[in-house]
Amino acid sequence: MLLFLLIILSCFKITMCKKLPHIIFILADDLGWYDVGYHGSGDIKTHNIDALAYTGVILDRNYVTPLCTPSRSALMTGKFPIHTGMQHKVLMAAEPWGLSLSEKLLPEYLRDFGYRNHIVGKWHLGHYKIKYTPLFRGFESHLGFWTGHQDYYDHVAVEKSFSKQLWGHDMRRNLEPAWDLYGKYSTDVFTDESVKIINNHNKSEPLFLYLAHTAVHSGNPFKPLNAPDDSIIKFNNITNYQRQKFAGMLSKLDDSVGKIIDTLKKNSMLNNSIIVFTTDNGGAASGFDSNAASNFPLRGTKGNVWEGSVRGAGLIWSPLLKRPGRTYRGKIHITDWLPTFVGLAGGDKTKLPKNIDGLDVWDSLNNDKPPARRTIVHTIDGNPQYFASVTRDNMKIIKGSNYQGKWDGWYESSTWNWPYNVDAVVQSQAGRAVASLGFSITPQAVFKLRKESQINCGKKDSTLRECYPQRSPCLFDIDLDPCELNNLAVKRPDLLESMLRELHRWNSTVVPPRNVKPNPNANPSFWNHLWTNFGDYPSPVTASS
Ligand SMILES: *[C@@H]1O[C@H](CO)[C@@H](O)[C@H](O)[C@H]1NC(C)=O
Ligand SMILES: *[C@@H]1O[C@H](CO)[C@@H](O)[C@H](O)[C@H]1NC(C)=O
Ligand SMILES: *[C@@H]1O[C@H](CO)[C@@H](O)[C@H](O)[C@H]1NC(C)=O
Ligand SMILES: *[C@@H]1O[C@H](CO)[C@@H](O)[C@H](O)[C@H]1NC(C)=O
Repeated sequence: MLLFLLIILSCFKITMCKKLPHIIFILADDLGWYDVGYHGSGDIKTHNIDALAYTGVILDRNYVTPLCTPSRSALMTGKFPIHTGMQHKVLMAAEPWGLSLSEKLLPEYLRDFGYRNHIVGKWHLGHYKIKYTPLFRGFESHLGFWTGHQDYYDHVAVEKSFSKQLWGHDMRRNLEPAWDLYGKYSTDVFTDESVKIINNHNKSEPLFLYLAHTAVHSGNPFKPLNAPDDSIIKFNNITNYQRQKFAGMLSKLDDSVGKIIDTLKKNSMLNNSIIVFTTDNGGAASGFDSNAASNFPLRGTKGNVWEGSVRGAGLIWSPLLKRPGRTYRGKIHITDWLPTFVGLAGGDKTKLPKNIDGLDVWDSLNNDKPPARRTIVHTIDGNPQYFASVTRDNMKIIKGSNYQGKWDGWYESSTWNWPYNVDAVVQSQAGRAVASLGFSITPQAVFKLRKESQINCGKKDSTLRECYPQRSPCLFDIDLDPCELNNLAVKRPDLLESMLRELHRWNSTVVPPRNVKPNPNANPSFWNHLWTNFGDYPSPVTASS
């Protein structure tokens, strides 16, 4: 009754009963900056994703956090991970913790406005007790997995804990283990489920579909890069075999995007949809996590605070956007989607808790106005041995390092500027679907947008002190120097001082990381070889001893 009243009220007051837009949020896993065609990549064909980019708005400064768990927590809460204790590393499958139950999550906000919420794919925000899993956190269905990765065919997640390799099946249909999906390629499983959700959706209600693909995250260490043979063979002129397999995985992800858009069109929902496509963090490049993404020419890999880790490939597409087919240069942070979607749902923004870090960026984005967002806390890890970084306007400070600086380089892709086939973009499923709503893709526009998207590194100034953030803080002007070549820390002590103050100000707001040590009870060998909510049951370890 209360919910009903709320819907009527919000409908009456804000949107005057205009139908709320469907929100389709497609999260890629570990996709790199240079892995999408619209950023200049020619080796991997992302025709469907590109079609959305050219007829939507390319998010040029789409900031995410360095890792999976922190980024997903930020998306779900609208808060920087330092404010929810989700900043340190990722949730390992055997660890008994998760995103605090006192947080109200994005689907719970949207439900207040009548949205029907579905999640497909990866959760990675806690599962040791059932109440941490999606169905208890605002979603009405979940086909997917609870941990951070899985094999693309057998859906087993292997993780090392207590110097043992723990093996467990991790694929569920709502709360039930989906053993029957053994052997079906994950990207196809998630695509088919999304298609089914859209087909079955009651068109008079708004839909929130959160499709969190496992692609292009690596699978288990003994078979990290896995795609159907025919998708790999398509890329047989990529000479690096890891990159070739990666291309196969990514082309399946791109096909998925095409199918989703086509299904929305067939259900007459596309003309009232908002599609966001973004990565959760930068690419796992050059063998990081046994993967082969590329962030070039941005610096670093996933798991760091260099731009290659936090400036993610992303776009928004919607017929509700003014002047589609452009690049938005304002900063956006993954925390911004929650208030932006709540704003679009007609929510009274003042009702959002004050401690939300996200900003409603719709007005700025839609009207190409000065950016709503000026400051981004990339992370401040609780452990002083680790990294911390904040950007304010054009200045970015980096203090401390991850992996002792091992992944602080630039990992070039050998396939820079391969030929690009505009016609294939036009003819892609997404290309044809958007064309049917009147969006056209011309070679001229594609050329212009791809050119605008190229990162110009500028020159390296060899008179400046090299950056070793594990020894002393580094400072970069990321507008002039997006590739982080020139450390201004020594040259500009005034700016360094001011950014250190900014960092310390944020540091005083950090809440302790929620991480706890793995629990032996989690071992899937106690649970029929399943990763499960072991915290809800009596300990099998003591029971058997
Ligand atoms: C579809 O949604 C509308 C609005 O919530 C509702 O009145 C109607 O009963 C629903 N239809 C079905 C078949 O569930
Ligand atoms: C690789 O093959 C694709 C077509 O499959 C072609 O577009 C591209 O030019 C080729 N690249 C090179 C370097 O031969
Ligand atoms: C979208 O298209 C369908 C079918 O043409 C139409 O019924 C519906 O009113 C349109 N919605 C919007 C928001 O334009
Ligand atoms: C943040 O504050 C803590 C506690 O005072 C300190 O140990 C840590 O070094 C600070 N971190 C940074 C990045 O300054």
